[in-house]
Amino acid sequence: MKYRGIIFDLDGVICHTDKYHYKAWKQLADRLDIYFDEQINNRLRGVSRMDSLEIILERYAGAPLSQEEKVQLANEKNEIYKKLLMEMSSEDLSDEVKTTLENLRKLGLKLAIGSSSRNARLILSRIGLEDFFDGISDGTNIEKSKPDPEVFIKAAAMVNLEPKECLVIEDAKAGIDAAHNGGMDSAGIGDAADYSLASYSLTRFSQITDLIF
Ligand code: BG6
Ligand code: MG
Repeated sequence: MKYRGIIFDLDGVICHTDKYHYKAWKQLADRLDIYFDEQINNRLRGVSRMDSLEIILERYAGAPLSQEEKVQLANEKNEIYKKLLMEMSSEDLSDEVKTTLENLRKLGLKLAIGSSSRNARLILSRIGLEDFFDGISDGTNIEKSKPDPEVFIKAAAMVNLEPKECLVIEDAKAGIDAAHNGGMDSAGIGDAADYSLASYSLTRFSQITDLIF
């Protein structure tokens, strides 16, 4: 086998949380009278919560905000987002993703999460995967966000593998950059499928199985 482990980004790869992020940021942006649309939301893919807030605030015309106020705004968005996540259930885990994960496990591969989100464990529990992965590296255990490779390097360490032994699956360009910066192969899906720095391009999640041999 070419790889001994697979590190999956969560949002946009294992399940889809875009609409919940959008609704929560939109509610905050409306309150602050900031223009926000789905195109701006696309720029938030793979980006940490505080960096996402900075992108939203590019269109903010009010009085300057202190760091403390920004943290409060990010918390406000997160409370709305967490409530929306309660709408998620095991139905948000597709049969294709579930079956592919089970097939990869049967091959003896270590399977880990490498996500920028601080809500990764909550999301995994909503879709019924809280105990599935061999390692969960997320926004709670990193100092630097993607495109820094820290989240993936820590995921590899959690499953006792060298980064080079792992394949990263990502839907965000920042995530493909992070894999590249960590010297790891990556497969782009969705938004990142056509990104030149990705080692492979996926049109379907199930194609991951073809990349292993
Ligand atoms: C990433 C999402 O997985 O997590 C981003 O693609 C999000 O859109 C980031 O901003 C941080 O998420 P959270 O849940 O910590 O606010
Ligand atoms: Mg993603």
